[in-house]
Amino acid sequence: MLSCLCMLLLLASAALSHLDEATLDAHWEQWKITHKREYNGLDEEGIRRAIWEKNMRMIQAHNEEAALGIHSYEMGMNHLGDMTSEEVVEKMTGLQVPLNRDYTFTLALDDRVSKLPKTIDYRKKGMVTSVKNQGSCGSCWAFSSAGALEGQLAKQSGQLLDLSPQNLVDCVKENDGCGGGYMTNAFRYIQENGGIDSWEAYPYVGEVRPCRYNSSGMAAQCKGYKEIPMGDEHALAVALFKVGPVSVGIDASQSSFQFYQRGVYYDRNCNKDDINHAVLAVGYGVNSKGKKYWIIKNSWSETWGNQGYIMMARNRNNLCGIANLASYPIM
Ligand SMILES: *[C@@H]1O[C@H](CO)[C@@H](O)[C@H](O)[C@H]1NC(C)=O
Repeated sequence: MLSCLCMLLLLASAALSHLDEATLDAHWEQWKITHKREYNGLDEEGIRRAIWEKNMRMIQAHNEEAALGIHSYEMGMNHLGDMTSEEVVEKMTGLQVPLNRDYTFTLALDDRVSKLPKTIDYRKKGMVTSVKNQGSCGSCWAFSSAGALEGQLAKQSGQLLDLSPQNLVDCVKENDGCGGGYMTNAFRYIQENGGIDSWEAYPYVGEVRPCRYNSSGMAAQCKGYKEIPMGDEHALAVALFKVGPVSVGIDASQSSFQFYQRGVYYDRNCNKDDINHAVLAVGYGVNSKGKKYWIIKNSWSETWGNQGYIMMARNRNNLCGIANLASYPIM
């Protein structure tokens, strides 16, 4: 009787800490249903399952360490579960680092010393629209640019409105549509074009089509842009405080980023010299353990991260290059 009970307890703890085949099978079936996956035959499913299983085990190992206090964030399985981090970067990022940059955002003398608020969260000020999904198109730059301009539109007019990343994907000639691009090229396009359409007037399709900007759907304008001095996290905080949401570039190639779920993200392998993804900084803060973070809006749907957001470590040696390619539009 006693040995039987022990056996049960052992089995239960084994099921929790080590994913056995039967548990994995059940999780896999459920995951496919949840994320509506269908594969072409057993070969493809086998490949995808192997990637997913590797990811599952990595997530579990990470979370066991996080529970011991080794990490400041947790990971979780999500809709990207059957993709490698290389595939995620290839299909779902799209930031092309420009050759020449002009650091036009300069700090006033007193910005160096003046007290910034402890926290800023533009979501609470009605300056951030819902989380979007760029899909399998390297249009992160378009979502980041549109998001920064949405912030300025809300700040100036009090109107929170989705702007059109598709307008940018189709029409910004200096960029490469779903092949990638850079935010300041988008800001310059909007300035020279005389505006950007609303999302409603020019909905997202996630592939490049001929430009069909129509001024009757125009919802916002842009007078120019400014770029934050490279690598200066203090300047980024000042810009956030003085201006509003800021477009930023980061390295999103770590699988820890792919499966981030909650807490303050910090991965020492994140490479500030390999920036591949554009996102939107919408604030910053500090948690109860004193860990400082940036509040970052991604464009991988609400299923990713913490309802589409990630808190990334702030003032930790420019983690992931967050302050390297930061810019904002002037309305
Ligand atoms: C622009 O939109 C207006 C209003 O929907 C429409 O009447 C007009 O034909 C459109 N122009 C072009 C060039 O598509």
